Amino acid sequence: MSKVLITFWCCVFFSLRFIFLNSNASSITYNVLNFGAKSNGKSDATQPFLKAWVAACRSLNTATIYVPRGKYWIKSVTFRGPCKNKIIVNRISVIGGTLDGNGAGFWDCRKLGKNCPVGARSITFNWANDVVISGLTSLNSQLMHLVINSCKNVMVKNVRIIAPDFSPNTDGIHVQSSIGVTISGTSIQTGDDCISIGPATRNLWMDKIQCGPGHGVSIGSLARDYNEDGVQNVTLINSVFTGSDNGLRIKSWARASTGFVTNINYQNIMMKNVDNPIIIDQNYCPNNQGCPSQASGIKINQVTYQNIFGTSTTQVAMNFECSSSNPCSGIKLQDIKLTYLNNKKAQSICKNIRGNTGGVILPDNCLL
Ligand SMILES: *[C@@H]1O[C@H](CO)[C@@H](O)[C@H](O)[C@H]1NC(C)=O
Repeated sequence: MSKVLITFWCCVFFSLRFIFLNSNASSITYNVLNFGAKSNGKSDATQPFLKAWVAACRSLNTATIYVPRGKYWIKSVTFRGPCKNKIIVNRISVIGGTLDGNGAGFWDCRKLGKNCPVGARSITFNWANDVVISGLTSLNSQLMHLVINSCKNVMVKNVRIIAPDFSPNTDGIHVQSSIGVTISGTSIQTGDDCISIGPATRNLWMDKIQCGPGHGVSIGSLARDYNEDGVQNVTLINSVFTGSDNGLRIKSWARASTGFVTNINYQNIMMKNVDNPIIIDQNYCPNNQGCPSQASGIKINQVTYQNIFGTSTTQVAMNFECSSSNPCSGIKLQDIKLTYLNNKKAQSICKNIRGNTGGVILPDNCLL
């Protein structure tokens, strides 16, 4: 019961690779079959898809690109705007469909450390405003599944993301340099972060997210570059983590940076066997390269954790390792109930952190 519907107008380009789109019959405006696409999963459908895009892009009215049920093989491709219609600028919806990145061969190649192709993100939106992505499934992306970069006002809902937990760098949804992104009712099982949030993200709302396996919902890694814009006003609410490496994570390189993290709200979060349910790590420096004995310049403040409960698979259920040069401040803990496995006592670690607490705090509050 799915179709892909692309409604214009926009300044968008997104890249797909090996796309398998399933659709049923419905309102047809530009049917890719009429542009020579074959739904047999064998012929290269890249050019027909591009032609359909160009035709739709020339239309003066709202246009739909319709992809009937079938399997279409698509190489890396960019659909570019702006389109002709000047009245409704920047509106695009992608409805239904499945993207299959066929990542297994690529992951194997990387594991063997061979000379591998660069790999592909399954779908990327750059410089697009007023976007809706609904009912999309992404399978086995080679790299990140869905990237939202430099966009404004994006709604992601009822999306499913699936890849094995051993697949490297397959972040589920990556948001950066974007304002007003909503991610709702989305389930993510993957090999890297379920959702990763990069610099210059503002007003991000996430609710009803199911994450795991995966590396959690991560703000960061920040401070990769010295000149970085901050992350602000991010909410994650009514969500469940199951068997993920992390739950709520904020991560920054141990390097100087102009960046910051502020006004972050985590609320009503269930942790089921999560390795690190709550973690701030400002000492990120893999292989000790590029940051020996430095402290992170990222200033973290006003982070609220409210009603976070469930189980940790490691004893340290709350781990705040903030920067020695820029201590975390304004951290609020309210009603935290995390145990080590089912009923053992968990621990917390607090380094360079200030804040306050309310309600029940388990593991013992180390903020004081
Ligand atoms: C914070 O983000 C929410 C969306 O999550 C938005 O509705 C709200 O207006 C933003 N607040 C500010 C101060 O920008």
